[in-house]
Amino acid sequence: VTVYLVGAGPGDPGLITVKGLELVRSCDALVYDRLVSAELVDEAPADALRISRDAFGQFEINDLLVSLGRRDLDVVRLKGGDPFVFGRGGEEALALAEAGVDFEVVSGVSSVSAVPAAAGIPITHRSVSSQVTLVSGHSPEGLDFTALAGVSGTLVFLMGLAALPALAHGLLAAGKQSDTPAAVISCGTTSEEETVVAALDAIAEAAVSLRGPALVVVGDVVALRESLSRRPVGRTAGAATQSALG
Ligand SMILES: C[S@@+](CC[C@H](N)C(=O)[O-])C[C@H]1O[C@@H](n2cnc3c(N)ncnc32)[C@H](O)[C@@H]1O
Repeated sequence: VTVYLVGAGPGDPGLITVKGLELVRSCDALVYDRLVSAELVDEAPADALRISRDAFGQFEINDLLVSLGRRDLDVVRLKGGDPFVFGRGGEEALALAEAGVDFEVVSGVSSVSAVPAAAGIPITHRSVSSQVTLVSGHSPEGLDFTALAGVSGTLVFLMGLAALPALAHGLLAAGKQSDTPAAVISCGTTSEEETVVAALDAIAEAAVSLRGPALVVVGDVVALRESLSRRPVGRTAGAATQSALG
């Protein structure tokens, strides 16, 4: 193998896998995402090539991985969370496969479950939610809100902070109950974590000051945070939004 597509985990550098960390520590070249913790980038050998993905478009990154791989270097492509969950890891793997460059996917801890967990929200819970729908909130105009409002269980939106008013409006207009518990978690698993909890019809306003990366959880599991959070619940949400949950 020459190119490893490695998941860095959701933010806390301790949440990379043992295998992923070993690969970072022995690589010749590290190509890393913006959301990857600086502490993990620092784990690469001092003489390793370090390349931030920020300076490149996706096609350029694909080409770069192919050309580094063809030079027979040990290349680590370090990606936030899990490489194959909304991470375009599949596109990079396809480019490598088409070019005949050997690669391996080293899965990571995805923000999808780890970020809500760190905030005291299990995305499934027996007798509360037995299914999860994972949605990209990047382009709400393309979403089928009727289907999303009708599906039971938990909804998790990634990349949905900017479009949160449109996402909440779309769900409510399609019939989702206005008092459905919702949470927005920013910078989850890090010391910067902030969580806002409110009813669905109040969440966009309650979370207006949060910054990315952030994900949105909608569903009854959010109420478990009252019992499971290790931090004071409602630290950032106003009293009005808290009471909206009853
Ligand atoms: C391009 S997606 C990549 C997801 C990643 N592959 C994963 O498995 O977690 C980026 C989105 O993941 C979510 N995200 C990633 N890290 C996060 C964190 N520490 N706290 C909250 N949301 C996070 C946000 O919704 C962000 O917009």
